[in-house]
Amino acid sequence: MTLTLIVATEKNHAIGYQGKLLYWLPDDLKNFKATTSGHTVLMGRKTFQSLPKGALPNRRNIILTRDKAFRADNAECFTTLEAALASCTASEQVFCIGGEQLYRQTIHYADQLIVTEIEAVANRADAHFPKIDNELWIETRRVFHAKDEKHPYSFYFVTYARK
Ligand SMILES: NC(=O)c1ccc[n+]([C@@H]2O[C@H](COP(=O)([O-])OP(=O)(O)OC[C@H]3O[C@@H](n4cnc5c(N)ncnc54)[C@H](OP(=O)(O)O)[C@@H]3O)[C@@H](O)[C@H]2O)c1
Repeated sequence: MTLTLIVATEKNHAIGYQGKLLYWLPDDLKNFKATTSGHTVLMGRKTFQSLPKGALPNRRNIILTRDKAFRADNAECFTTLEAALASCTASEQVFCIGGEQLYRQTIHYADQLIVTEIEAVANRADAHFPKIDNELWIETRRVFHAKDEKHPYSFYFVTYARK
């Protein structure tokens, strides 16, 4: 399997506040959908509960929770990260879609990071992406998206590969 972390961060690596995303950028959401569709998404229980319509369609949804009784429609639940990863086949492309707790645990196993770097600083944040250590990661792609009437901030789609 391959494991990719996909995330949108602002300039100080913040990713969320009070269970919600910090920004609404339609072209970033489109990129997220195009990148992850047909594959597997792995997420923490809090991120799952932040999704407006539950499990993401056209993807295998895996939720991590320590609550053995937790159930969700169209999603598989695991109580350890090791069991969740062990359930994935060799050919599966797995995308960890957050949140902070999941990113901090999965970055050690990841092959690739897909980071939307938003040119903004959040006033308030309580969830952050871990520091990307440039001893371990190399930037392989950077594509600029300008600010426009639908996007209040400019941003970059950045890919990092493990060195
Ligand atoms: N900007 C972005 O790209 C992005 C993406 C995703 C999320 N976010 C934001 O991130 C925030 C949520 O992040 P978060 O760190 O609070 O929560 P989270 O990582 O989504 O979920 C944490 C929960 O996952 C479960 N969990 C974590 N590690 C586990 C393990 N090893 N084994 C079993 N279960 C485990 C636990 O669930 P139980 O409590 O049920 O046991 C834990 O409470 C929100 O604000 C969200 O909007 C941002």
